[in-house]
Amino acid sequence: MRIDVLTLFPEMFEGPLSESILKQAREKGLLDVRLTNVRDFARDRHRTADDYQYGGGSGMVMKPEPIFEALEHVGAPVAKGDRTGGAVVLMSARGRLFDHGLAADLAREPRLVLICGRYKGVDERVAGAATHEVSIGDYVLSGGELAAMVVVDAVARLLPGVLGDMESAETDSFYEGILGPPVYTRPEEYRGEEVPDVLKSGHHEMVRRWRRKEALKATLHRRPDLLERAELTDEDRELLQEIEAEDNTI
Ligand code: ADE
Repeated sequence: MRIDVLTLFPEMFEGPLSESILKQAREKGLLDVRLTNVRDFARDRHRTADDYQYGGGSGMVMKPEPIFEALEHVGAPVAKGDRTGGAVVLMSARGRLFDHGLAADLAREPRLVLICGRYKGVDERVAGAATHEVSIGDYVLSGGELAAMVVVDAVARLLPGVLGDMESAETDSFYEGILGPPVYTRPEEYRGEEVPDVLKSGHHEMVRRWRRKEALKATLHRRPDLLERAELTDEDRELLQEIEAEDNTI
């Protein structure tokens, strides 16, 4: 998948793109991230990318012209409603919250363009040209770059071939709409705490059931909102009853 990132700080992406899964995905030719410096499209002598906001108030706003020209340069559709060239995503604290479902939708696009805002935000006409406006959480970042890295990472994990069997996304938290189970590695006992016996039993069915129950337990205790939306099986409902009965006896 080709992902273009429009940013005033392309160097910020070097670390995340050159380590671990993202590095391997790029080396395997599964992920092609291209960084475009929006300032290269600022036409004036000072290469100005921001300006005062109409109506007054503190904080500068990113100008529309350099961003639109950068979009055109990477071949992104800028006409409203044109979805032929994939998704154009504006990273913004005002956007809809990013989650696994949106990551999966974006992973199915033919290509992505991510626009990173800075300062107080970007001129609203840029938002109008984007197909999505996305926030990674209810807090304000200094710019969209870290948010864009989050999106690149979460989307790349879901591209076919990026994760091997050993790392499969199917066992990740959120893959089935709930949190993942706890995991352990060696040593068997550490600072007085033991690895649960069932995980050492070699009994695949018992391990599967334990993991499912622990995943449901973590979700019920930490993120009950997820359970309301998750697709639960009859076994899940049985396990949840067991968990609730256990909780009531403590
Ligand atoms: N830019 C500033 N804050 C942001 C956030 N929470 N998500 C995405 N982009 C942002």
